[in-house]
Amino acid sequence: MNISIAGTGYVGLVTGVCLAEVGYKITCFDIDENKVQLMKDGFSPIYEPGLSELMKKNSKQNRLFFTHEPKEAYKDADIIFIAVGTPEQKDGSANLQYVESVAKAIAENVVKDTIVVTKSTVPVGTNDRIKDIIEKHKKHDVKIRIASNPEFLREGTAIYDTFNGDRIVIGAEDPYVIEILEKLYAPLNIPIISTNIRSAEMIKYAANAFLATKISFINEIANICERVGADIGDVANGIGSDQRIGHQFLRAGIGYGGSCFPKDTKALAQLANHINYDFHLLKSVIEVNNDQRVLLYEKAKELYGSLKGKKVAVLGLAFKPNTDDIREAASLLLIDALKQDEAQIAVYDPIATRHIQHIYGDTLNYMEVPEDALAQADIAFIVTEWDEIKEIPFSTYKQLMKEPVILDGRNCHDIEEAKKEEVTYLSIGREPVYYKAIESYDIENNS
Ligand code: UDX
Repeated sequence: MNISIAGTGYVGLVTGVCLAEVGYKITCFDIDENKVQLMKDGFSPIYEPGLSELMKKNSKQNRLFFTHEPKEAYKDADIIFIAVGTPEQKDGSANLQYVESVAKAIAENVVKDTIVVTKSTVPVGTNDRIKDIIEKHKKHDVKIRIASNPEFLREGTAIYDTFNGDRIVIGAEDPYVIEILEKLYAPLNIPIISTNIRSAEMIKYAANAFLATKISFINEIANICERVGADIGDVANGIGSDQRIGHQFLRAGIGYGGSCFPKDTKALAQLANHINYDFHLLKSVIEVNNDQRVLLYEKAKELYGSLKGKKVAVLGLAFKPNTDDIREAASLLLIDALKQDEAQIAVYDPIATRHIQHIYGDTLNYMEVPEDALAQADIAFIVTEWDEIKEIPFSTYKQLMKEPVILDGRNCHDIEEAKKEEVTYLSIGREPVYYKAIESYDIENNS
């Protein structure tokens, strides 16, 4: 079986590499010639633990190939996966231009019967459109079958997720397609759920929207906890122990970011809008997340009135640990607000700094180690819960900062420890800890 994959982003490249590891012959296509050369040389264009090792191994064993020639990718393929991006448009809907141009390129190059499987996250009905485009532009009398096969992998654990997923969803109308894809995935030993195409397309959006809802829900509960003297850690544990609720995705913090949740929740809300359905709940989930992402900044403003001239350390820039991805990261909103206030900003992240540098140039101070960001700082913001950030003890903050004022957006530290160490420690949904009387912080407002 010859398998081709169009698009070498997270989904495409990880799928390609993992299927090669299973033993299939995989050709990964990307329009970007430089990127293809990089991958041919054995380098991964994305940061994903374990990926480049598997890439090198499978390329060496002649199971994994890379090309920027559509003909080479699609001509002999029995199965073609579409895994290109569906970025957000101004109105929140998904931009399908890349999916459609791949469909056209497939049509122009296939010379034998092929199954086209969409892994990209696409609005309900897109697979029918893909089929129409291919039928309209195909050059040979070949049978094109289609399927929807959404992807649930997380950045940072993408390879583990591919081999250990909870389910594989296959949406197809043609039983032959289901049979072939079931065979393809059989070595992974993961339960398969087969549905019609539209249900499969919907499963992906519904899954992401549900997880985003869990996060916004726990964040609102956290905001209430803070005001009534409850502790969100205990509350999340208490409700999560009910198996109907479950412990996962109940970590309160400064909201969800990344390449999927923000984009997919908006696309689903937009899709509902399009069919005149008012998705109240999802719209609120998005709104809550927008507010949550600026919560740390607001806590700092409450404390100090103005942040002008304050030396601040931003610890963690990636939207979550174990990735260098800063798409929709809370750090961006925080930095924008701090810049607006003319604070002096030093940032640290183990691997994402270069992407931030790309955006902010020399307006920020980029530090190689967290200690340098903390030196003489007035306020420290913990934005991403990297291990190396979580492990910094309060004593280090006390030693290096002008004032030990720590605003933790990921609840990395223990409240009792903060009290013992006499630092100011404000986190999400938990008791605030102040090392001096609250009035004495409000320097600007008092003056
Ligand atoms: C997500 C989905 O988990 C995955 O199934 C889908 O295919 C793509 O989108 P990803 O964006 O890689 O994956 O990261 P994930 O680990 O799900 O986290 C998303 C965001 O939610 C992060 O910003 C994270 O910090 C936040 N989050 C997650 C919380 O704030 N609290 C939680 O309890 C869990």
